[in-house]
Amino acid sequence: MDIIAQQITRILNVGRCTIFLKDGQRKELWSKIAQGKGLEHTEIRLPLNGHSIVSLVARTGQSINITNAYEDERFSMAVDMVTDFHTKTLLAVPLKNNSGKVLGVFLVANRSDEKPFDKKDEGILLLLATLAASSIEVAKLYQDVHVAQLETIYRLAVTAEYRDQQDTRAHLKNISIISYLLALSLGLTKKQAELIKNASPLHDIGKVALADTILLKPGKLTPEEFEIMKSHTVYGGKILEGAHSKVLQVAHKMSLYHHEKWNGNGYPYGLKGEMIPLEARIIAVADVFDALCVSRVYKRAWKTDEAYNYILTEKGESFDPSVVVAFKRIYPSIRKLYAQTAADAELMQPVEETPEIVEPIKTVRKIRTAPKPPFSN
Ligand SMILES: [Fe+2]
Ligand SMILES: [Fe+2]
Repeated sequence: MDIIAQQITRILNVGRCTIFLKDGQRKELWSKIAQGKGLEHTEIRLPLNGHSIVSLVARTGQSINITNAYEDERFSMAVDMVTDFHTKTLLAVPLKNNSGKVLGVFLVANRSDEKPFDKKDEGILLLLATLAASSIEVAKLYQDVHVAQLETIYRLAVTAEYRDQQDTRAHLKNISIISYLLALSLGLTKKQAELIKNASPLHDIGKVALADTILLKPGKLTPEEFEIMKSHTVYGGKILEGAHSKVLQVAHKMSLYHHEKWNGNGYPYGLKGEMIPLEARIIAVADVFDALCVSRVYKRAWKTDEAYNYILTEKGESFDPSVVVAFKRIYPSIRKLYAQTAADAELMQPVEETPEIVEPIKTVRKIRTAPKPPFSN
């Protein structure tokens, strides 16, 4: 969309180019892309049923070409006033999908030669609007599939964890946040960290294959029963084996190897050190930390600092030393997260002020500079 807007600005040689998209839920049009003087970091929102030129084009599906904006009664100077811009000529065309449904509006203003927009300009803009419409539809389809995939993974994970834990959702949320921050702190890319975050809820998926008599046994497991309990890793591995999607490939490694230990004393295979996939070394720390912090019939909930100290003492034993170092770095954020959760549950434990660790993700907040609708563009 950015590239299309840049091309429009270049080909039509205009001072301003804005691409508005329909927000069906809020019944508004919002500026997905706004290029030109004063429009950077600006989000314009207009009511779909308003009297603005953009709203009219979106409702009627017809282009509007204005040769003298300030003399046209449909034009409002509101945006010009807040962005210190003088709109002279203006062309707005609808963005339609293959079936003719309007998805948004393309708006350009002020040809550099100060001439009005002509039929040729309108043709070019409509052509580029068609290209943009198909790219929006494809992007939306991808997004829908991605959301559906994540939701399926999450619900599958809840199914596995739900059998023996009441606080499943909190556990899955906590371990995915910890895994994500650990991955970033270890220097993995945001994309890799997101795969780890999204795959982590499936680490115990193999539990679905365990009998209730073992999984729900209130007392201590016999050595034979414990052997069976250990097999949830192998079952998890079998369930996710040969997966095509990247997220399930990561989940496969996590479910099969999350009980392996750095010193080789884990299960199911007794792998040592870097023979254990990194994804599993990460989830191992996240899973143990969160498990310690919650109460179970057989144990009280540990304070976060106690659980943290346990993770440190297991450096080089149960856990990869570099993951423990990363955990140390992110711990102030984790401590805050748990304190917040406890506060939400009115079970706040005393927490000292901790230094802030800033998650290395940057977000650009768009500022809304336009006045409240209705107004025309
Ligand atoms: Fe497990
Ligand atoms: Fe777990």
